[in-house]
Amino acid sequence: MKVVRAVLAGVCVALAATGVQARPWADIQKSGTLIAATGGDLKPFNYFEGKKLTGFEIELAEAIAQKMGLKVEWKVLSFDSLLAGLQRDRWDMAVSSHGITEERAKVVDFSNPHYCGGAVIVSKDGKVQKVAELAGKTVAVQTGTTYLARLNDLKKSGEVDIDSVKNFPLDRDARAATLSNRADVWVTDKFVAMEAIRLLPQSGLKMGEILFPEHMGAAIGKGNQGLLDAFNKALAEVMADGTYEKLSKKYFDQDIRCTD
Ligand code: ARG
Repeated sequence: MKVVRAVLAGVCVALAATGVQARPWADIQKSGTLIAATGGDLKPFNYFEGKKLTGFEIELAEAIAQKMGLKVEWKVLSFDSLLAGLQRDRWDMAVSSHGITEERAKVVDFSNPHYCGGAVIVSKDGKVQKVAELAGKTVAVQTGTTYLARLNDLKKSGEVDIDSVKNFPLDRDARAATLSNRADVWVTDKFVAMEAIRLLPQSGLKMGEILFPEHMGAAIGKGNQGLLDAFNKALAEVMADGTYEKLSKKYFDQDIRCTD
């Protein structure tokens, strides 16, 4: 008995050490379903229309999956938990406007970019326009984002003396804080800001300077090469056959694929 237990313990340790948790491509294919996680809070990329999850990334991922011969089963969780869950093999991928960063690429793999956007300063009546003007201001931003990391860096390095950086699990709550004057500035993606400004014309929300540009990609379990290759191939197909352009124009009136 003792020996069996010791062997079992050894197996568990080996599995954990090599990280062989991700569902390999062959298993995903066999199941017919790609399990994808998203935040569901980032209009027009991933959001709810009533009870229906929709948006540019949702429709795009479903079109890509279709090329892969798969359906998508969506899991909706707070943005902050998506990459951690991916690392624990709770889903096959995360599609939620993740900026491709070196830091994240240490723990997950990224697909080729599915769009290019950028962090932007948004304020009521455009009272804050430039990065330097964040000095003395309260900034609202979503938890777990590249925006939060950059704002904290600006503050900690002393480059800009931001009064306070408040973070919210949902991007729309960071927006709400700005709308209700609990924060002076909301930092989000420029396409999210453009949509909010279009939908809330009375709010006075205006975009200022771009903080930094970003390439967004789907996150896939580290080393899950079969899935990564199949996804990239299908992404290239939807980009070539007009599907991508059609979806992008539907949501943004323009093609938002990366050009660099
Ligand atoms: N692009 C930013 C990042 O990578 C924000 C993503 C927010 N996504 C979301 N679904 N709320 O951190």
